[in-house]
Amino acid sequence: MKDLLCLGIETSCDETAAAVVRGGVEVLSNVVRTQVEIHRIFGGVVPEIACRAHAEAIGPVVDKALADAGVKLDAVGVIAVTSQPGLIGALLIGVSAAKALALGAGKPIVGVDHIAAHLYANRLVHPDLPYPNVGLVVSGGHTALYHSTGPADHEKLGATRDDAAGEAFDKVAKIMGLGYPGGPLIDRMARDGNAKAVAMPRLDDGGPDFSFSGVKTAVLYKWKGQNAGKGKRPKAAPPRPKPEDLAASFQEAVVDALVSKTLRAAAERGVKAVAVGGGVACNSRLRERMGEACHAAGLRLYVPPVMYCTDNAAMVAGLGSAMFGMGRVSTLELDAVATV
Ligand code: KG4
Ligand code: ZN
Repeated sequence: MKDLLCLGIETSCDETAAAVVRGGVEVLSNVVRTQVEIHRIFGGVVPEIACRAHAEAIGPVVDKALADAGVKLDAVGVIAVTSQPGLIGALLIGVSAAKALALGAGKPIVGVDHIAAHLYANRLVHPDLPYPNVGLVVSGGHTALYHSTGPADHEKLGATRDDAAGEAFDKVAKIMGLGYPGGPLIDRMARDGNAKAVAMPRLDDGGPDFSFSGVKTAVLYKWKGQNAGKGKRPKAAPPRPKPEDLAASFQEAVVDALVSKTLRAAAERGVKAVAVGGGVACNSRLRERMGEACHAAGLRLYVPPVMYCTDNAAMVAGLGSAMFGMGRVSTLELDAVATV
């Protein structure tokens, strides 16, 4: 296991990625070809366009991952691929490529869960990540809390009832005309704003589930006027808040919910560590607030560096290696699954 080379492949959304990881934790190469520029003019990911771009990129991206690592496919011990959840057409391209490579080179294949891979990303920098822990995955497609007992063993404690956190960031940026993807833009703008300037709804029902549609609608009304977006003519809008203040107030409301529910789950489960993953884990305010809260509660906090927060294949190869080590291999019957 220590010297096992794993080729990881990731195509679940709008990044075509491949990586080679040794022993489950040592990243030898990490190639990510993002499609952000292609989707920017649409203000979001267009599945058909994503699939075409994955199909064009997957061969060169895999070749580059092997070349950067200085290894030949022959030397690879196992191939890991994200098989769920994600855009079905996009997943199918990665899964088909992985199967073709596995069949052609006679290698075992492991289907990996994208969400579990986001949590595994922490082990690429902290191989000693303790279990059990409470995991928070916050990305463009998912927002959920887990009780994790191992790299591939996650019991879901709660999830979003509507938008994912990243989706809310992206939609709010769109409402405010800031651009795409919205998360980094709001993050940057919020640094110059007052998070207490604009009142935001905070619905904490004491449970582990999240809901972000209320804050998103609040931003819409503050920015475009009450009832905007309902097909009705908005009531005369009060003066708009400063965009920096609105961005900061929205971000603070989202971060409040993420931090308080994670800390509560950690206390209820009696764990000593919290692991965060996914694109929204790049958010500077979330990192700061989660850090303070975990410190105050005596919890160790693990958040990956930015390059392992957003979609990448190193996390897929890492988790695939761990699963291979546990005998949790797939067959060439492996199928892509859009939702789990
Ligand atoms: O994990 P990821 O790369 O893809 C999915 O699996 O969805 O996450 C992408 C999401 C986008 O919604 C993006 O706006 C958000 O992560 N994001 C951020 C930040 N950087 C990326 N959200 C808030 N603050 C950031 N700094
Ligand atoms: Zn992701």
